[in-house]
Amino acid sequence: MIKFENIDKTYIKNKQQVHALKDINLTVDQGDIFGLIGWSGAGKSTLIRLVNQLEKPSSGTVLVDGINLNRLSAVEQRKHKKNIGMIFQHFNLLETKTVGQNIALPLILQNVDRTEIEQRVDAMLDYIDLKAKKDSYPGQLSGGQKQRVGIARALITQPSILLCDEATSALDPQTTLSILKLLKQINHEQNITILLVTHEMEVISSICNKVAVMEQGQVIEQGSVLEIFSTPKHNTTKKFVSTVLNAEIPERILESLVCQHDIYRLEFLGDSAREPIINELILKQLVKINILFGNMREISGVVLGSMFVQISGEDDAIEEALSFLKQNGVRIEREVA
Ligand SMILES: Nc1ncnc2c1ncn2[C@@H]1O[C@H](COP(=O)(O)OP(=O)(O)OP(=O)(O)O)[C@@H](O)[C@H]1O
Ligand SMILES: [Mg+2]
Repeated sequence: MIKFENIDKTYIKNKQQVHALKDINLTVDQGDIFGLIGWSGAGKSTLIRLVNQLEKPSSGTVLVDGINLNRLSAVEQRKHKKNIGMIFQHFNLLETKTVGQNIALPLILQNVDRTEIEQRVDAMLDYIDLKAKKDSYPGQLSGGQKQRVGIARALITQPSILLCDEATSALDPQTTLSILKLLKQINHEQNITILLVTHEMEVISSICNKVAVMEQGQVIEQGSVLEIFSTPKHNTTKKFVSTVLNAEIPERILESLVCQHDIYRLEFLGDSAREPIINELILKQLVKINILFGNMREISGVVLGSMFVQISGEDDAIEEALSFLKQNGVRIEREVA
């Protein structure tokens, strides 16, 4: 478990103070894939780097498995670092070392026996599916392969926590998916807690179970991924969610509207997304429904859908139709009068 308590961090840059983190309180539970999302400069990297002590807080406490990182002895610090792996956007591999040597590096630094290093590196290469590249140099690998090596190097010391700072931001969408799949597999099979930083809500929706949204050094919203996607509160969170859920009607559809009836945004969650509620409503013949645009996504194993509809009819009938939808678990927002 990682716990940030009342964390503040101030940098001094050109004699000016940069208040990078402001009163951060977060808990990452064992086994979580916890996502930190925010625009550039929000403080994400600073926060994640506190966990492996690449940065120190100006005030506040970081606890890892109940141990206060401010109070570690030198011996405890070494043990702590061994327990935490990290991967980076630009992979940070040593270009003059082979894939095998890059992965072996943390073990060499720990004076592990050469035969054991050989065995563990081979097993790791097997795990990340890069056995054939053992003697290649990073310059001979694709971005996705480089990140696999980065992951292998991070995992070779068998840490219980993996930190990922924009680990897929330099990769194309297909390669991103394969790396995210690997991270999910690692979390699942090896019970490794993952704390990841991203500015892409797609990454959060693909693999995280919890998320915190950061802005200007603060956590402005946090919760389960499903909660944040289904009921985002802060404007910034809504913007991030809309990048995945298309929370706006495409301009072209708005332009082509022939009649000006009210538009409603209907949100379906879980069971309500599966049941043919709109069909039932149409069969009631209370109102006319014009479906403008809709989409469905699976988030954390739950189907989340949104649909924009125009509803026309007598006022009473519209009221009745809306309350029918609400009774069936549909959330409704009126879009355009
Ligand atoms: N070593 C440093 N010295 C001075 N200021 C810093 C340092 N590192 C970060 N900052 C400042 O702290 C703030 C937060 O930076 P941080 O790198 O944590 O943001 P981020 O959310 O990771 O952004 P990005 O998405 O661009 O990586 C920024 O204003 C940044 O300029
Ligand atoms: Mg960063």
